[in-house]
Amino acid sequence: MANKKIIIAIDGHSSCGKSTMAKSIAQELGYIYIDSGAMYRVVTLYALRNGLINNGVPDREKLIAGLKNIKITFKWDEFLGKNTTFLNGENVEEEIRRLEVSENVSPISTIAEIRHEMVKHQRENGLNKGIVMDGRDIGTVVFPNAELKIFMTASPEIRAQRRFLELKEKGQEVDFDSILQNVEGRDEIDSNREVSPLKRADDALILDNSYLSREEQLKWTLEKVKEITERI
Ligand code: DC
Repeated sequence: MANKKIIIAIDGHSSCGKSTMAKSIAQELGYIYIDSGAMYRVVTLYALRNGLINNGVPDREKLIAGLKNIKITFKWDEFLGKNTTFLNGENVEEEIRRLEVSENVSPISTIAEIRHEMVKHQRENGLNKGIVMDGRDIGTVVFPNAELKIFMTASPEIRAQRRFLELKEKGQEVDFDSILQNVEGRDEIDSNREVSPLKRADDALILDNSYLSREEQLKWTLEKVKEITERI
């Protein structure tokens, strides 16, 4: 059937434009877009606000116990053309993108109990298909049966440069070297953690976008979607 809805799983390194791509695809196809990284960021923000991270080390037990107090929701913002993330009804979209959250999120995302809760929530969102989700373990753990899996990457320097410009545009004080360090540090933790490490699913297509424009990536992906939906 030509217009059958599918699940599109996009995984890859941090700051390689996964969410921008995922968002555009969802818009083109009229699919739901879920940024799974935002969920780990919300938990990190909650931990920071409640003093549950000391010198970069999360208080595992207290944080796990606090999970029941964290309700994460997304709302599509028509005006901004993107999803807004809420923590217990409060719009935290901007706060979760701050460097302090980026610097603390990787250790939080290594905690198995937290991952378990997030994955449960992520799967609920995919029950009706017609969804694009980006993250680190979407094609391997969350939706191993996704019809289309893409593994995105780009060189660390190019990713740091993109994030640098993005934060500067938002008026944040940032320096390139700490961003590069953050990107490399997160690659290291994300790829080597014990639970659900970032790794390409065997059946994921690789998209290295170091030298590709957004339009080129979108075109490439939409072609893949077309091929798949015509086949199933
Ligand atoms: O995509 P992002 O940079 O917003 O993700 C924030 C962090 O969350 C990143 O360090 C890795 C982690 N993450 C994860 O472990 N699993 C996911 N599915 C998504 C993100």
